[in-house]
Amino acid sequence: MSFDDRPIGLFDSGIGGLTVLKALWSTLPNESFIYLGDTARLPYGSKSPQTIERYCLQNIDFLVKRGVKAIVVACNTASTVLLDKPHEFAVPIYNVIEPGAREALKASAKKQIGVLGTKATIAARSYVKAIHAIERGATVYQQPCPLLVPLVEEGLEDDPITNLIIYRYLQPMLQAGVDTLILGCTHYPALRLGFEKVAGPNVTLVDSAQALAHQIGADMGQELNPKLKPSAGRRGIELLTTDAAQSFLEVAQRLMHPHPVPELVAVDLI
Ligand code: DGL
Repeated sequence: MSFDDRPIGLFDSGIGGLTVLKALWSTLPNESFIYLGDTARLPYGSKSPQTIERYCLQNIDFLVKRGVKAIVVACNTASTVLLDKPHEFAVPIYNVIEPGAREALKASAKKQIGVLGTKATIAARSYVKAIHAIERGATVYQQPCPLLVPLVEEGLEDDPITNLIIYRYLQPMLQAGVDTLILGCTHYPALRLGFEKVAGPNVTLVDSAQALAHQIGADMGQELNPKLKPSAGRRGIELLTTDAAQSFLEVAQRLMHPHPVPELVAVDLI
C-alpha cells in the first residue's frame, strides 16, 4: 500500500487541542500535521451551538483547502456540536468524544463515570449519550468547569488556586462514588497533576487523545510501534492561529513539552 503523505488537520478553539496533537505526533511516527487554533474566537465553550457550528464549518473548510487527508476535531465542545448535527465532508472527520467514552467504560469497574467539560459540552450531554450508546446501565455524573480553561491559558496549571477550584468541581462526583473521570476538554490534560491530587489513586483519569490516536492509526493502516524511528526530517507540524498573539506560544510550548513547537503563523479564515 502506498503511503499517503498528505498531512492530518486538527482544529481547536485555541491551543488546548495541542494535547491531542502531542498524542498523535508521538503515536503516529510517519504523519505530518496542520494544527489550526481559532484563538481569535476563543472560547467556544460558552457560545451557542449555532455559533460553534458556524466556526467549525469554517475551520473544516479551511483545512480541506489546505489539502489535509483527515481532520481531527481536537476540541470537545466542537466535537459535541458536530456529533449533534452530522454533515457530509470531503475528508474523514474524527471527534474526541466517542474514543473518550469507550476508554472510560473500559477503565471503570463500577460503571460510575464522571464527566468534566465546558458548559456547552455538558449542556449537550455528548458523553452521556456516547456512554449510554455502548452501555445503557452506566451511571454518568456531569460537571461543567468553566474556570479551568482560563487557568490553563494563564499558565496556572500548578497553582494552589487551580487545585482549590478543581477540588470544588470534583467533590460532588467523588462523594457520589465515581471511579473514572473523563477529562472532557482538551485543556484539562494540562491539569492532570491537580486532578490526580484531588481525585486520589482510586480514580482513573481518562482523556481521549491516546485512544483517538490508536483509532486513526488503525484506520490508516499505520504502524503504531512507539519504538519505530520517526521519519524525522520528512514530517512536520504547522501551527496556525486566527489571532497573531505570540502569548499563545509559551502555553503551546508547555502543552507540547518535550516536543519542540514551531512558530505560530497567523491566518485569516475568510
Ligand atoms: N478546548 C475546548 C474543549 O475541548 C474548550 C475551550 C473553549 O471553551 O474554547 O472543549
